[in-house]
Amino acid sequence: MSSEKVTAVILAAGLGTRMKSPRAKVLHELCGRPLVDFVIQAALSAGADDAVVVVGHQRQEVCAHLQDRFGVQVRTAVQDEQRGTGHAVRCAMPALTSDCKTALLLYGDTPLVLADDLARLVSRPDETLLSMLTCRLDEPHGYGRILRDEDGRIVAIREQRDATEGERKINEVNPGMYSVDANFLREALAALEPNNEQGELYLTDIIAMAAARAPIVSFDAAASTLGGINDRAQLATAEQTMHARIANRWRRAGVTIRGNARIDADVQLEPDACIEQGVVLRGQTRVCAGARVDVGCVLDDVVVDAGAYLKPYSVCSASHIGPNAQVGPLAHLRPDTKLGRGAKVGNFVETKNVVLHEGAKASHLSYLGDGEIGAGANIGAGTIFCNYDGFQKHRTVIGEGAFIGSDSQLVAPISIGDGAYVATGTTVTKDVPADGLAISRTRQENKEGYAKRLRGRLQAAKAAKDAKDAKDAKDAKDEASD
Ligand code: UD1
Ligand code: CA
Repeated sequence: MSSEKVTAVILAAGLGTRMKSPRAKVLHELCGRPLVDFVIQAALSAGADDAVVVVGHQRQEVCAHLQDRFGVQVRTAVQDEQRGTGHAVRCAMPALTSDCKTALLLYGDTPLVLADDLARLVSRPDETLLSMLTCRLDEPHGYGRILRDEDGRIVAIREQRDATEGERKINEVNPGMYSVDANFLREALAALEPNNEQGELYLTDIIAMAAARAPIVSFDAAASTLGGINDRAQLATAEQTMHARIANRWRRAGVTIRGNARIDADVQLEPDACIEQGVVLRGQTRVCAGARVDVGCVLDDVVVDAGAYLKPYSVCSASHIGPNAQVGPLAHLRPDTKLGRGAKVGNFVETKNVVLHEGAKASHLSYLGDGEIGAGANIGAGTIFCNYDGFQKHRTVIGEGAFIGSDSQLVAPISIGDGAYVATGTTVTKDVPADGLAISRTRQENKEGYAKRLRGRLQAAKAAKDAKDAKDAKDAKDEASD
């Protein structure tokens, strides 16, 4: 690392009382990722080399998540007691490496902040000590106000509680994002004192100290990108904004996305994929070039290869859909389903832990669990893999080009050889050799005229019953009126 190292310091020690949740606020999810990830990602994209996240409430969970997601690039520092934003940054300082030149100070609950705005902060001129974002609000209540001198230079930030009547009228506010010379920051934090209404260490007091030594650089940013998430209503609004951003980013990259499809943050799409109205794409889902995901599909951790077509309302998780394969409408692909090139799973088919090799088909109404289906095999309507004996799961293996007639039950463990044929309605309990035929049904018998005679008997029985019911009703009525 050069001496120009930038470290993001992200404050995330608060519990977030208004979320009304035992879970730390920054772990609540937005577009499928914990809130805190977004500001970290924005800081890294803006040029931060690494980050220190200040944790407090639920710190084990927050640390475990950050470690898992970012590895060594993101460290944590603990703030045991929340004694103010200045105290929180103090807690982070020991985790800054000695070569850190600039600290980029941010909050963990502001997921909509733009990397471009942070990049402007990071590119602070050498002779300055501090740059910050500002924004204008029609309703500035609650925010720290920006105090400027007659020449328009920032001289201090005044918190709402400590502000005079006149200062409260200022509508230029402090969103709480700063880029600060690391050496100056150490000195300034050491000098902070809790002489304010709340008895806290205010990070904002360093602004006056910096202003006394060098001009403060400020950039006006859009209020819509700076707000913190404090409750679930704000979370929902921010999520809408983020989903729209994600969709538009993919659209500009050549993906067709219609209507209100919801694409989560980690999803990958290739140019010329088509995502229809009402689709939900979650987790590590990836949709390749020319694939189409039709109306209402829900995909979680699914890879859809080039040219595949998911028809409406299919629900798939942890599965791989091969090139030009077809799924649905209304198919349910459960984890570890793998469809080879051109394979087909049709309506009302449920799959789990099963491979359909190239060109294999199960077009209607089946349960296919724990097995392997050879290339080009055809699974008839209503076929069931009886994979579970109440204690263990067993495998069904079907060879290439085999034909399974409709309404068959394959009682696992079982194997059907290449090119074998299972007659419609068969319950298969013994392995079927290659090119063999399995049939298990009683021989059909036709009885001439039997249906007509049966109908006559049944009609007579019904007429007798109706007559008896009418008589019983009449007797009961006569008795009541006696
Ligand atoms: C702070 C700013 C205020 C600014 C506002 C923008 C100060 C003194 N004031 O106000 O000028 O307009 O943010 O939202 O800095 N945190 C900790 N540990 C603490 C205190 C806070 O980690 O001891 C974290 C919180 O989890 C939160 C963030 O810092 O993410 C901001 O804290 P908060 O108490 O909301 O700051 P405000 O008083 O609203
Ligand atoms: Ca706040």
